[in-house]
Amino acid sequence: MDIAIVGSGYVGLVTGACLAHIGHTVVCVDNNAEKIRQLKAGHVPIYEPGLEELLEKYRKNSRLTFSTSIAEAAKKASVIFIAVGTPSKKNGEADLVYIENVAREVARNMDSYKLLVEKSTVPAQTGDRIARTVRLNLPSSSGKDKKGAVEFDVASNPEFLREGSAISDFMQPDRIVIGVESKRAERLLREIYKPIKTKIVVTNVATAEMIKHASNSFLATKISFINSVAQICERVGADVGKVAEGMGYDRRIGRSFLNAGIGYGGSCFPKDVDAFIRLAEKNGYDFSILKSVRQVNEEQKQSFIRLIEDKLWILKDKTVAVWGLAFKPDTDDMRRAASLDVIEALQAEGALIQAYDPQAMDNAAKMLRNVKFCPDPYAAARGADCLLLLTEWTEFSGLDMAKVRELMRQAVIFDGRNFLDEKSVGDLGFEYYGIGGRRNA
Ligand code: UDX
Repeated sequence: MDIAIVGSGYVGLVTGACLAHIGHTVVCVDNNAEKIRQLKAGHVPIYEPGLEELLEKYRKNSRLTFSTSIAEAAKKASVIFIAVGTPSKKNGEADLVYIENVAREVARNMDSYKLLVEKSTVPAQTGDRIARTVRLNLPSSSGKDKKGAVEFDVASNPEFLREGSAISDFMQPDRIVIGVESKRAERLLREIYKPIKTKIVVTNVATAEMIKHASNSFLATKISFINSVAQICERVGADVGKVAEGMGYDRRIGRSFLNAGIGYGGSCFPKDVDAFIRLAEKNGYDFSILKSVRQVNEEQKQSFIRLIEDKLWILKDKTVAVWGLAFKPDTDDMRRAASLDVIEALQAEGALIQAYDPQAMDNAAKMLRNVKFCPDPYAAARGADCLLLLTEWTEFSGLDMAKVRELMRQAVIFDGRNFLDEKSVGDLGFEYYGIGGRRNA
């Protein structure tokens, strides 16, 4: 099938590469001419395991092309995925200006049936808005007589891709959600996903939009819930890791997304939680559970910072080693990373930061000031008064901690992800402070 993906950011590129991989002819569109030039030349602007290889393979055999022109892409493709950004406005609401632009542009160039598919996370009822925008901008809708206007459908097909494992999430999804208002749209989307063997949930558009809102917000709720439990564990002498394990064996609960830490970050959860709260508000409902989820997430970082302040005593001129900057492992993404708040708070009290991250240092350098970026974890630890582990990269589990101990001025670890083994680092003489009762001092 001929498919256009409008918006060549994270979601657009992964979707485009994977749709080409399962046999479709795909054009990825973006209005950023420099980005398209780079993609045409084989440069991938983001780090995502496996993405570069797929883009390269299908770019070379021309099953995947790149363009700056929605008009051109929309003419050829019968299905147009909308994967443009939906940034947050000041009030938390999603800003849909780019979505509207795409709908308008597609409509103006429509000369045959098109299926427009929402891929970006959008507030419920955006499908109706897109359909209205298309109707208002169809070439034949200038007069009152709509007869002869080309037909179109709007569908919702939310993505559930996690950064770092987006390709396998696409190829082996837990489910595919298709929100449609016509049999034709359903048929087309089923056809597109035919090579992928999984459960397909077919709903109307508003329900599909809500599935996305509810899924992401529920996962964020799980994280804040376990982080609240961690707070109490700390106070009563329980171990939150074991609590999560004990809970997780119950199939109704499940173990995933119950890792206590310094809170969730990234481009999705913080924004999506805000947007869902705002959507509820606009529809006359106070989504108080989600407001607490957001508040707990914020407090989790603050309590970690307070712990460091308490144990280090004076922060001025102390050297703090930081392992991990990205909002989670296997990505170079720094958006809403907890490391940003932690580092800035410590810097404000005069601490000197030496940091190492396997992928995110270039992006971090654009967002942080006065951080010494180091070539490896050992260099970051040299002369440090404490070590913070803020992202659980696998690399950090195989290091020579005895050497790290030698390099540091004071042997104190604050593990924001409960990643290191408290006993083995304790045996090497480290004071260890994790989250939710994991500590040896
Ligand atoms: C998320 C959703 O998982 C995905 O389905 C959606 O489409 C986009 O948003 P992503 O933001 O890439 O994906 O990362 P995810 O793995 O979900 O982690 C989000 C944040 O939660 C990270 O900061 C991570 O460190 C944190 N997290 C996750 C926890 O603190 N504890 C956990 O148990 C799990």
